[in-house]
Amino acid sequence: MSGYSTITGWGKYVPANVLTNADLEKMVDTSDEWIVSRTGIRERHIAGPNETASTMGLAAAREALKVAGIEGKDLGLIIVATVCPDYHFPSVGCIVQAQLGATCGAFDLEAACSGFLYALSIAHQFTISGAAKHVLVIGVEKLSMYVDYTDRATCVLFGDGAGAAVVSATDIPGGFHSFTLGSDGSRPELLYVPTGGSAEPITEAALRERRHCIKMMGSDIFKFATRAMDASSEFVLAEAGIKPEEIDLFLPHQANQRIIDATARRLNLPPEKVFINIDRYGNTSAASIPIALCEAIEQGKIWPGAKIVFAAFGGGLTWGAAAMTWTTPIPESMIAAPPQLNAAASSRA
Ligand code: ACO
Repeated sequence: MSGYSTITGWGKYVPANVLTNADLEKMVDTSDEWIVSRTGIRERHIAGPNETASTMGLAAAREALKVAGIEGKDLGLIIVATVCPDYHFPSVGCIVQAQLGATCGAFDLEAACSGFLYALSIAHQFTISGAAKHVLVIGVEKLSMYVDYTDRATCVLFGDGAGAAVVSATDIPGGFHSFTLGSDGSRPELLYVPTGGSAEPITEAALRERRHCIKMMGSDIFKFATRAMDASSEFVLAEAGIKPEEIDLFLPHQANQRIIDATARRLNLPPEKVFINIDRYGNTSAASIPIALCEAIEQGKIWPGAKIVFAAFGGGLTWGAAAMTWTTPIPESMIAAPPQLNAAASSRA
């Protein structure tokens, strides 16, 4: 049994190709003003044909292992949270495991946008129980493969990318205090990809009707999301014995700026304690929290002793939250200036 579990390594990868709101204005009947005011999104990164869940996940994982100062052979488990695997099988976890020279167990986990927090909670259990010293957790999505770029209600929302974290057993007091996970599968049609699984095989008719793309009832999800983020955050805070005013950083899933703002208002958090990068990435599902974590570290918003709350919701429906006290030292050299939007987007902003 180890005393505590904490994050000791982190890394991210985003494709170079950027799709701006101006680009979308040329594709569907939308406007920069509508997208920014309803979602907060200004641009998103879109993977190219050679960028897959495993290539992006691997790039993020290599960075995370380097920061943790460990190698693939040191890992006791690899978990990849994704809804966009390279293949139905084998798993992205196995592809990444071979590339890293690891010999441990590896698997994929599907909980949509809550996937990274689901995977973190398993990593916590493995490390705190002594079953593994280090667990690699990857959140990666190539959601552009499911996006219908003729459907303005969904195509403006999603982006691609990857983030990774190494969760390690430690004797240093702090690290993860509490987790909560939840699900409600009673209305799968709220957010789903109808075709391509065992329920509905791919047919020419299905492809014509774009049933291989994301279908979403956005306003129902919006209402559910604010409740889920709020309740799960309050739960993990109470379990950890942390008061909302003691939070140093709230790091939520980046799905919609209005959802994040509503949750922050309910938790009574000032804007400087709420991390937001949805403007530059859109909703990257399971990748959104680990990408945000890396950027929060780069921006000097996390330090040893900082109290952090993560919260997410997603398709399923699923939700989750975690509370931790950060314990890993962050070298000065890792802290950089806040990133800018790409030149084309920022000149219009
Ligand atoms: N541009 C212009 N108009 C648009 C667009 C667009 N891109 N999209 C929709 N509209 C129109 C609609 O057609 C509608 O027009 P109408 O009133 O004439 O019918 C109007 O805008 C309002 O549409 P709503 O859907 O009610 O808009 P809303 O304010 O709810 O915003 C949004 C929509 C942004 C999708 C919001 O509901 C939302 O963010 N929901 C949460 C979605 C989410 O987070 N999904 C991901 C879950 S995570 C995962 O697991 C992948």
